Amino acid sequence: MNDFTFCSPTKFVFGRGVCDRTGAELAAMGYRNALVVYGQGSVVRTGTLARVLASLEAAGIAHTELSGVRPNPEVGLVREGVATARAAGVDLVLGVGGGSVIDTAKAISLGVPYEGDVWDLFSGAAKPVAEGRPAVASVLTIPAAGSESSASAVITNDELQLKRGLSTELHRPVLAIMDPELTFSLPAYQTAAGVTDMIAHVMERYFSAAGPVPVTDNIACGLVRALIEEAPRALADPTDYDARANIMWAGTLAHNDLAGIGRSANPAGRAGGWESHGLEHELSAHDARITHGAGLAVIFPAWLRYVWQSAPERILSFGRDVFGIEPVDPQADGVDVTPEEATRDAAEATIDALQDFFVSLGMPRTLGELGVTAEQIPDLLATLRQNKGAEFGELRRLTMDDARAIYESAL
Ligand code: NZQ
Ligand code: ZN
Repeated sequence: MNDFTFCSPTKFVFGRGVCDRTGAELAAMGYRNALVVYGQGSVVRTGTLARVLASLEAAGIAHTELSGVRPNPEVGLVREGVATARAAGVDLVLGVGGGSVIDTAKAISLGVPYEGDVWDLFSGAAKPVAEGRPAVASVLTIPAAGSESSASAVITNDELQLKRGLSTELHRPVLAIMDPELTFSLPAYQTAAGVTDMIAHVMERYFSAAGPVPVTDNIACGLVRALIEEAPRALADPTDYDARANIMWAGTLAHNDLAGIGRSANPAGRAGGWESHGLEHELSAHDARITHGAGLAVIFPAWLRYVWQSAPERILSFGRDVFGIEPVDPQADGVDVTPEEATRDAAEATIDALQDFFVSLGMPRTLGELGVTAEQIPDLLATLRQNKGAEFGELRRLTMDDARAIYESAL
């Protein structure tokens, strides 16, 4: 097990009806003036926004609103939010929604004290500062990205066709309000994409270059097994509270770094090379209509098929612990395979099982189903090169030729 630091200071308030306690929780933490950020209307239609605003009013917290965050959020609205937050003098930015909304809230928070363009913080041209920055809190309405307690935000710049992540403790939410009933209204596709994203967050860490870390590996595989059980239940009955609750909490644990402890070579860093996220982010950067989790459903199996031979024991242990797949014993009577063939067959069966599970939820199998064509691959590679440099990844270093081969294999 490698050395690690683990920081998860977010306060979680979880359960039926807790969204009505948002104001009281924030007031108890000392916040008085909030910018409330939300998306393109779901929280208005479901009544969630009205409940949150009523709770703020009851707690004496002043508030200003910023609406219209789109999935794969764009920096333009962040700039608008920074100006609004400064004008209102807020001490808190409260995201009511999913990863796109919460990431926008985080970016606004970092942008408030920064005098230049907030994109500089995402491009790496400037470093975020702590002083004068409003805190971030979240009311989660879709379990997926894990942003409710992660130290990351991901923002797109349409003009540059770049999607960039920024990790800093500064914008980790101080409070996550997690009411599973708020997720009853999720469309099946978003439920499925959210579960796919969670599994990807676990697997990016699991398939790091480190050897086995039994305590962490068991947590990781346990989370994936739980999601494989609960997701079909939530799809069959969107109001199944226990399925929704288990999925919601799994989404947090999948991305608060618990599932990667001891697997990072850098004690202060996140485990894994995040290769599939890097490859996926180019898809949704070039076409914001592509849902992040749906992109991962295609990319993750394609990446695994390309790289598993760099760590055959990892794919075998994942297959065994998640799907009960054992390689056949080449020594057994009547078995006529080499050890290499036995490993390959088990690895391929594991990746097939993973991909078939994503497809069973309603996720795509190919890039074509997402509207991505072979002609677009050079554009994806151009921005990937800008984001990642000539080579990236950890389990196996990937050149741009490797990335092209992975995209082409997924067409
Ligand atoms: O905009 P509204 O109308 O609210 O609709 C949203 C949106 O269309 C809808 N929705 C959310 N809650 C709902 C609901 N519809 C009905 N009922 C509800 N209760 O769902 C759609 C998707 O929302 P979004 O916030 O985009 O989803 P998600 O949480 O998957 O976030 C995706 C974004 O997070 C980034 C992704 O790249 C993407 O930009 N990520 C952020 C991470 C982080 N901050 O740590 C890590 C992830 O790997 C990821 O990259
Ligand atoms: Zn993700």
